[in-house]
Formats: sequence, C-alpha cells, structure tokens
Amino acid sequence: MTDQPQSRRHAGRRALVTGGATGIGRATVSRLAAEGAVVVVNYVGGPDDANELVGEVGNAGGRAIAIEADVSNEDQVVSMFARARDELGGPIDLLVNNAGIEKPFLLVDMPLDEWSKVIAVNLTGAFLCAREAARGMIDAGVPGAIVNMSSVHEQIPWEKFGHYCASKGGMKLWAGTIAKELAPHRIRVVNVGPGAILTPINRDLIEHPEEKRRVEAEIPWGRLGKPEEIAAAVAWLSGPEAEYITGTTIFVDGGMTQYPGFI
Ligand code: BGC
Repeated sequence: MTDQPQSRRHAGRRALVTGGATGIGRATVSRLAAEGAVVVVNYVGGPDDANELVGEVGNAGGRAIAIEADVSNEDQVVSMFARARDELGGPIDLLVNNAGIEKPFLLVDMPLDEWSKVIAVNLTGAFLCAREAARGMIDAGVPGAIVNMSSVHEQIPWEKFGHYCASKGGMKLWAGTIAKELAPHRIRVVNVGPGAILTPINRDLIEHPEEKRRVEAEIPWGRLGKPEEIAAAVAWLSGPEAEYITGTTIFVDGGMTQYPGFI
C-alpha cells in the first residue's frame, strides 16, 4: 500500500504535525509533504531529529519547517501557531494532533504528576492545538481538517495505563463534540486509532521477542503495524475524498479492536 505512487492531494495546504520528529509523526510529515503540503514539524527537546527531517523533506523536493513547543503549554502553542502563520503566509488548515506519551503504573502506584503529565500532553495538548488551528481557519474563512492520533485504547482497557486510556477515551468524545461545533465552518475532525506500531514508544516491546509475540497474538493480522501505514490513513482522511467523514474514529490496528483473545 505504502509503495503506491502518491497523489498531490495536499498541494497548497499548510499542515502542522505535533510530535512530528519521530515515529508516527515523522512518517506523517514525510507523507503529507510528499503529497504537496508545506509542513510544520513540531517537536520538544533536542532539535536534531526535527532538523534532519526538515532536510530530508527538502531533499525530496518538499518544504517543512521545525518549530519547538510543548503542546501542553498554552503560551508556547499560541506562539507556535502565530509563527507558523507568519512563516507560511496563512493559517494552518491541516492539524495532526500526534504528540503523545505513556508510562506504566498500576492505579495504586500512580503518582499524581505522572497522571497529570499524560493528560496534559495527550489531551490538553490536543485541545490547545485544535483551538488555535480552528481559530485560524475560522478567522480566515478557510476549510480544513483536524486529525487526532488516538489509539485502540480509546476502546480497549489497558492495565497500568489508566492515565493513557483516560486521555484517549476523553479524546473520543471531545473529538465528536468539536466535530459538531466545527462542521458549519467546513472543518472536519477525525480520530485515527493505531494499534501496536513499530515506533520508539514501543521500544521495550520491540526489543523483547517474548513480549512482542504476546502482542502479536492480540493482532488478527499477526504483526505490528508500520508508521507509514498510519501516515497513509492520515493523508487520505484529511484529503478531499474523505469529505463525508467527521466526528468518528478510524482504527488502523490489524484487527486488534476485534477482541482476538475472546473465545
Ligand atoms: C500505545 C502502544 C501500544 C498500542 C497497543 C498504543 O496506543 O501507544 O504502546 O503498543 O497502543 O496496545
């Protein structure tokens, strides 16, 4: 699927991908740029990965810029969108809320700051970026799309990841709600729900064959997904062929949400 020639369906669009320097975000930046969008690579922490990606996109004939911002920080998000508008000459019309973190703790061991950090990045960060993006599109009267990187854990409970599940379950009803608010402005909101994907967030899993086999057993398709497979879904869902899709979640999970362990 990902080897197919890509269309230029995003030519002329201004995209912003949060957590865009690595993993699913990185594949999404490359894909959207290859399809013609100018892309802001949002990152936090060291700029090396983001700068390298900007270079890669440029070498492939596209355009990307890197902007650092902690998505859970209101001032930094507002400044990032203002800078993006200045540098790209107009508002962001395709936001991919991809930044996300996770770290396992049982309920009884969960420190408040770990709970708060996950909610702040995964859910509040998506809210702050969507609010700025929507304000920019509405002010300029341009249509657009907001794609949220949710998870199969929008639906599947996951022990030791109560904060993460709360953030993704919250993302489900929040996305439906803002989809209703934004439809009159011709702004669509779609959640993508990846299953287990070969990205840095799953490093532990990838490096432990036994654990990897255990996860593969939870996937009817029998393997972990590739970041490019998620990026392909984002590119299609944010494009014109998907105009009638809003307020829902598309799972890209090899069937993980179909309860493979149930007998
Ligand atoms: C998590 C991964 C996990 C997958 C399936 C994703 O949302 O980020 O760490 O492997 O769900 O459980």
